[in-house]
Amino acid sequence: MAVLTPAEGSHNIDEEWKEGEPFHWERVHPEFTWYETGKVNMTYECVDRHVEQGRGEKKALWYFSEHEEQSWTYLDLQKEVNRWANVLKNHGVGKGDFVFVFLPKHPHCHVAMLAAVKIGAVVGPLFEAFMEEAVRDRIKDCDGEYLITSSEFLDRVPKKELPSLGTIFVTDDHVEGYVSITSEAKKEKEEAMTEWVDLNDGLNIHYTSGSTGKPKGIIHAHRVMIQQYQTGRWVLDLKEDDIYWCTAHPGWVTGTVYGVFAPLLNGVTTVIHGGRFSAEAWYDVIEKAGVSVWYSAPTAYRMLKSAGEDVRRRYDLTSLRHLLSVGEPLNPEVIYWAQEAFGLRVHDTWWMTETGAQLIANLPTRNIKPGSMGRPIPGVEAAVLDEEGQERPRGEVGHLAIRADWPAIMKEVWKNEEKYASYFPHGEEWYIAGDLAIMDEDGYVFFQGRSDDMINASGERIGPFEVESKLLEHEAVAEAGVVGKPDEVRGEIVKAFITLTPTYVANEELLEELRLFVKRRLAAHAAPKEIEVMEELPKTQISGKILRRKLKERDRVGG
Ligand code: PRX
Repeated sequence: MAVLTPAEGSHNIDEEWKEGEPFHWERVHPEFTWYETGKVNMTYECVDRHVEQGRGEKKALWYFSEHEEQSWTYLDLQKEVNRWANVLKNHGVGKGDFVFVFLPKHPHCHVAMLAAVKIGAVVGPLFEAFMEEAVRDRIKDCDGEYLITSSEFLDRVPKKELPSLGTIFVTDDHVEGYVSITSEAKKEKEEAMTEWVDLNDGLNIHYTSGSTGKPKGIIHAHRVMIQQYQTGRWVLDLKEDDIYWCTAHPGWVTGTVYGVFAPLLNGVTTVIHGGRFSAEAWYDVIEKAGVSVWYSAPTAYRMLKSAGEDVRRRYDLTSLRHLLSVGEPLNPEVIYWAQEAFGLRVHDTWWMTETGAQLIANLPTRNIKPGSMGRPIPGVEAAVLDEEGQERPRGEVGHLAIRADWPAIMKEVWKNEEKYASYFPHGEEWYIAGDLAIMDEDGYVFFQGRSDDMINASGERIGPFEVESKLLEHEAVAEAGVVGKPDEVRGEIVKAFITLTPTYVANEELLEELRLFVKRRLAAHAAPKEIEVMEELPKTQISGKILRRKLKERDRVGG
């Protein structure tokens, strides 16, 4: 097998850890204030600490959109976070309250999240493209009390269906019936009290999909910072002068952990790009900002690749020095393309919402085996287990498991102990990811698929049940089975198999209506790209449950 050797150059990890050495996360603790005080706050470590240590004038956020560029120093960020924190406090937000943030990629999204965290609230970032029902289901599940959003998103917030919501803040100046957090902030002090909490107190909630039921609320605690800081340092290799860009929205865990917390914990400059993907716009941001470390997803790399060499050659991309990928299988072709296009290897990383930080990665100092996600990072132990929880021989496929003692592991699944327990079917020792994998003789892990029916389209995690339920709400749909269909660019696309209720006949118009029905209620990425009408759906004989697996197979052979 082809092995790519590490590029020249020094990395943070070089002097700090040697391959084969044991690593204990306690080693990182002295980096933080709480090592001495015992009390912690993520926002303090991300923002205030840098100002106190004389880095206030350093650029923290650098925002680019089609019409605008903004630059925020750590001091600017601190002041604005404090003002917003004061406003939130004035309106009754306190420790442990849920504050949802529904905003586009913009510095305000960072400020809102950090302000909520500063006063001890649990922040729930929502993906900017969520539609009404996706927003409702999430806020409703945990009786969310506060929401920070913008006027352009208000028509996707079904206020009447959310009785728990007390105050809705908007980031615009005057919107009748809402609290303008931006104008109230102008009247507030630049200082705010930090709510010092315990390492295991709640920090954020992300809703995530599985194969059954509605999305579940995964809650993380402030202790995640130990691993988020350290992986920022060793995996992302963030250094003092780096200009760093993570392309994910904070509504996805990657955007929160590696778009907000990890870079700020490491004190670098974070680039934020507002707007949609286009190869021109993205290359332009890299050139203008001089991005050095870049964290994106295979779908984005594939789209850049297909945009062609002519487009790429128009930009100066020589500032790039470290490329990373997450969220879906990274094809070897992409790695080879990046070598040609940027002269750089792409470093794959593996983790999940539930894991709170990277666990398996291609460290910058290690050989890369294209097709493999890399090896467990220092301080993490992985294994491939059989159904009974016994280790599988190297080279054979089984369930990817992680020894459950890494610092960023989720704190709980909101009001769902049963779901939490389902990650530990063989006892507390091993966390079972739900991914199938092979580990080779050298400990490299190769992703083989999911053991459940979860769909991964462009790195976005979609539960078939949520899409099926939505389709069934349309009167034309009698039954629905939703699966992921392999796709060259997106990894998978959402495909729905349906049967129709008696009075309906299949035609393009109806199928388009069904697509829009899901898109307008949940989100564009959840809407089936393909819908196939069937006479009947394959089912289990005993329980009559729809067999998604059969549908998937059918799709593979082109039936
Ligand atoms: O199936 C794995 C896939 O994404 C799942 C986790 O999805 P989510 O919670 O949305 O988090 C995504 C980013 C942290 C995993 O169970 N996945 C994640 N990384 C990779 C991957 N599949 C293949 N290769 C990866 N590097």
